Amino acid sequence: MEQRDMRGHYAGLAAEYDEHWVYDSDYVPWMASQIAEALQLSPNDRIADIGSGTGLFAREVVRQIRPHHPLLCVDPSEAMLSRLGTPPSPGLTPVVASAEDIAEKRVDLPYGQFDAMWLKESVHHVTDPGHTLQGLADSLAPGGRILVVMLPASIQYPLFEAALARFEELQPDPAAIEGHLRAAGLEASLTHVEHELRIDRDKYLGMVRARYMSLLSTFSDSEIEKGIEEIRVAHPEPVLVFPDRFAFVLGRRREEGV
Ligand SMILES: C[S@@+](CC[C@H](N)C(=O)[O-])C[C@H]1O[C@@H](n2cnc3c(N)ncnc32)[C@H](O)[C@@H]1O
Repeated sequence: MEQRDMRGHYAGLAAEYDEHWVYDSDYVPWMASQIAEALQLSPNDRIADIGSGTGLFAREVVRQIRPHHPLLCVDPSEAMLSRLGTPPSPGLTPVVASAEDIAEKRVDLPYGQFDAMWLKESVHHVTDPGHTLQGLADSLAPGGRILVVMLPASIQYPLFEAALARFEELQPDPAAIEGHLRAAGLEASLTHVEHELRIDRDKYLGMVRARYMSLLSTFSDSEIEKGIEEIRVAHPEPVLVFPDRFAFVLGRRREEGV
């Protein structure tokens, strides 16, 4: 998606974004604790959430970890960042910038180096992930960690066939991201975490109509309506139950002299 279209997509989605994800009250705390555990976050860390969107997960990480330094929520969409609140929720500092801006040091930041950062479901928006991840890796302090949270190469969501096929065409491969982190000089690993989602079918159809995934904005209104009809027929059950599986690609910068 072009940067301009992507901004338009998230500007339209920002107001209701969080609503889509709080249907399952366990999901956000579960994901935040998975992120905190994988990154081995501690209160003294200087942390950034790159492509933070509305700060839904950053806010929960702050609640769980209580960092001593503000957690930077970095996102190019002002509309998404505005959901951090006015003033922003305690412990969160919004930064209007892209991953590329941070990687290329085009913005002034309160920290010269980071102890930990994550990109959750934002790496697919980065134009040249190898180059950008190299720049982000360079901004890590010795022992610093970076985590890329992303959907795997294929998903088992109850979407219509054309959407699942397009997802597979567009989604970057987590193994390639792991390769980029290694090429950036980090120790890298790839694991998966999984959470069972249970969503009221009508609510899910509403999310598809609202194009809750950026992938869905590549379909016209009539294609979306046709897709919704296809889902209705394939899933007569009132509650949809399906696995939400994420790849966790972790990179760690070696300590100095190691
Ligand atoms: C699917 S949302 C994920 C938001 C949040 N990480 C979450 O999991 O709720 C993707 C976010 O990536 C942001 N984004 C788009 N292009 C980006 C880029 N080049 N660098 C960083 N973030 C970007 C969008 O504005 C959007 O907020």
